[in-house]
Amino acid sequence: MASGAKTRTKTRVAILISGRGSNMVSLIAAAEAADYPAAIALVLANRPEAPGLVLAKAAGIPARAIDHKTFPDRETFDAALDAELRAAGIELVCLAGFMRIFSSGFVAAWAGRMINIHPSLLPLFKGTHTHAQALAAGVRLHGCTVHYVVPELDAGPIVAQAAVPVRPGDDPASLAARVLVQENRLYPAALALVAGGGARLEGERVVFTSDAAQADGALRSL
Ligand code: GAR
Repeated sequence: MASGAKTRTKTRVAILISGRGSNMVSLIAAAEAADYPAAIALVLANRPEAPGLVLAKAAGIPARAIDHKTFPDRETFDAALDAELRAAGIELVCLAGFMRIFSSGFVAAWAGRMINIHPSLLPLFKGTHTHAQALAAGVRLHGCTVHYVVPELDAGPIVAQAAVPVRPGDDPASLAARVLVQENRLYPAALALVAGGGARLEGERVVFTSDAAQADGALRSL
């Protein structure tokens, strides 16, 4: 780094996954840029067979499974997760296809420091099978949302959204594929906003710095 250049400490991020890990891969790739405001310091999976674990290790990120099936209840699993995150000095948690519901204590402990990506334009289509839900509802626009995690499932202050058209002839798989392209683009942009200070929580909403608001148009194009 040139002498006199400003240095800003990168936010230490953990990514929690349950499966494939395409959003995790997009976050890891984005964080390789020198000027990205977050460093991916840890990947944890609740399923030892999660394919994303192999991809994280291949990218040189410390990654391991904490198998939820080996814990007697939700609270003890969450306590193990919490201990691992704290031991690694994690400041912000990104859920990327993490398909476990947390105990209220875990959500409270990470309140304001945990974000999630959900495959719908929240508050529409919470839960699972969001693409089938969108097709059944007959909406013409669908998409994805990055939001802060709160006790209510698939709710919480919204950081960023991307929309895609629903096309005649779409089935859940074709729609999911179109949304996933946007997810993989949206999540790194949203994490940059949160970790870089462009977006911050103010009560129940996310507020943006004027620089971030100007850049925001690029996040919403169809
Ligand atoms: C993504 O579509 C993500 O939005 C969804 O799981 C998929 C994980 O894919 N998450 C949820 O449904 C959470 N409610 P990935 O493993 O390839 O990132």
